[in-house]
Amino acid sequence: MRTRKVENMGKYSGQILEEIFSQEQIEKRVDELAKQISEDYAGKVPILIGVLNGSIFFLADLAKRLDIECELDFIKVSSYHSGTQSSGTVRLLKDISCIVTGRDVIIVEDIIDSGLTARFLKHRILENQPNSVTFASLLLKPECLKLDFTAEYIGFEVGDRFLVGYGLDLDQKFRNMPSIWAFPVDMNV
Ligand code: IMP
Ligand code: MG
Repeated sequence: MRTRKVENMGKYSGQILEEIFSQEQIEKRVDELAKQISEDYAGKVPILIGVLNGSIFFLADLAKRLDIECELDFIKVSSYHSGTQSSGTVRLLKDISCIVTGRDVIIVEDIIDSGLTARFLKHRILENQPNSVTFASLLLKPECLKLDFTAEYIGFEVGDRFLVGYGLDLDQKFRNMPSIWAFPVDMNV
């Protein structure tokens, strides 16, 4: 297990991160998801809507591996004020620019935790009468899911630990690490 000590991050300094998904594991899983989506959307041109900022690497890798044509757009919401605790409310910070009416939409997210963000996003897109909407999330924390939400495409299920890397951040840091790392189970924030 690769580990890495957090430095220059105030109260988080000294914590030991553990790598839980390597670049190779992520690549392999994203490839499988891309194959599945390419089959499911054969003959269609879906719009992939990436949820900023966390989904950027997943969205880019997934889109590059699709065998079908697609369009890309972005939406930005905030559900976490800071640290690792969810605020419980979702705010729209940047809306999509495309017209989704009559289109097939795939919302692409980094992680589903309580499910509040995912539900908010799906409802928001559905208001504009798309032909279909599905949800692709690289990660899902099933233990944390507070509502009945089902995502069609999930990369990995994970336990209740705070994760960073491959787009996931803690206070905007660690996003650019190419693999996924977990903070200790007993992390105190
Ligand atoms: P939810 O609304 O509680 O499902 O939270 C989803 C959002 O919270 C994701 O889009 C992430 O931005 C953030 N989030 C949830 N869990 C983690 C984590 O372990 N690391 C980093 N961000 C997370
Ligand atoms: Mg996010």
